[in-house]
Amino acid sequence: MMSVHTLMRRLEEFEGPRLVPLSATLFSASFFLMKLLPARFMLERAVEQGRLRPGGIICESSSGTFGLALAMLAVQHGYRLILVSDWALDRHLHRRLIELGAEVAIVDTPAPAGGLQQARLDRLHEYLRDIPGSYWPSQYDNRDNARSYGKVAEKLIDRVGKVDCLVGPVGSGGSMSGTSHYLRTLFPDLHAIGVDTPGSVLFGQPSGRLNLSGLGGNILPANVDHSQFDEVHWLTPVEVFQATHQLHRQHGLFMGPTSGAAYRVAEWWSHNNPDKKVVVLFPDEGHRYVETVYDQQWLATIAGWPSPLPACPITVGAPSEPMSAWSRFSWRRRTLQQVLERAGDGLNPGGGQSNGF
Ligand SMILES: Cc1ncc(COP(=O)(O)O)c(C=O)c1O
Repeated sequence: MMSVHTLMRRLEEFEGPRLVPLSATLFSASFFLMKLLPARFMLERAVEQGRLRPGGIICESSSGTFGLALAMLAVQHGYRLILVSDWALDRHLHRRLIELGAEVAIVDTPAPAGGLQQARLDRLHEYLRDIPGSYWPSQYDNRDNARSYGKVAEKLIDRVGKVDCLVGPVGSGGSMSGTSHYLRTLFPDLHAIGVDTPGSVLFGQPSGRLNLSGLGGNILPANVDHSQFDEVHWLTPVEVFQATHQLHRQHGLFMGPTSGAAYRVAEWWSHNNPDKKVVVLFPDEGHRYVETVYDQQWLATIAGWPSPLPACPITVGAPSEPMSAWSRFSWRRRTLQQVLERAGDGLNPGGGQSNGF
């Protein structure tokens, strides 16, 4: 009889990134669907710990790739999956989730504090309360999300050797916090750059409306380990879409917008540090965005489209400053509290406490 682990690993071939060189020193780690890795890891751990039983019910809040990864795994392994989502769930993904047998609940009224993300969590808690024994993977706060990225770090080391800089988009924080943590066991000087968007509270911006699924958030996840980051960048949606097109046109890589955002930052940093080896994380492919990010009619409805992508970011003195264009802040591995207390004074040498990853 096959063990649970053998069964779960059927999709493992899809999990790892392809390493695609973008220049002599810049490499992309391009995922088919990055979230397959943490999703499988979390489910396996839950089975081991008796929190998820055979044929059990999984409940999660997602309007993006984590929900899709869970749906792919759930249908293969006989779990029932309830996903709480919102209007940002695009119709193609919605259809795909239904095809995979997931039950999708749509929330459309934002909570007074925390917006739609909080409203989804409120609905999720209702399900968890009403369905005894149901399991909540909780990608934002479950440390197994970040822990699953040891395997990615191993592959990067295997393929690239010494990695000097890692760049990636930040949503739950799992991929960047986890991969940086593991890479630093070999390369303590690794320079880690997180990419976020204005209006996301993850690195200290005041909460605002977010239009980019997977990038930033209105609630701070425990999986964002601020003390892993040397530098943070914020790109506006229009800049993100421009960068996503650039990635496609310059390298033939048809990826989602969070990849485009990370590409722009990685390309800039690599250009300014030509002797350093840089790896940039590209979390998903472009198919989901054919009717949005890759559609000129849809883009024409976006305020500010089209406008030229700036050649370099504006360096800000504090992450809470208003940002209307690509911005950058020197985070220096501090905790969020340290940065908010001392942002702009330029005196803190960094090395803050980890949040306990
Ligand atoms: C498309 C996409 N890119 C990037 C991210 C951010 O990755 P992480 O949650 O590991 O920070 C997500 C997270 O949901 C995502 O769906």
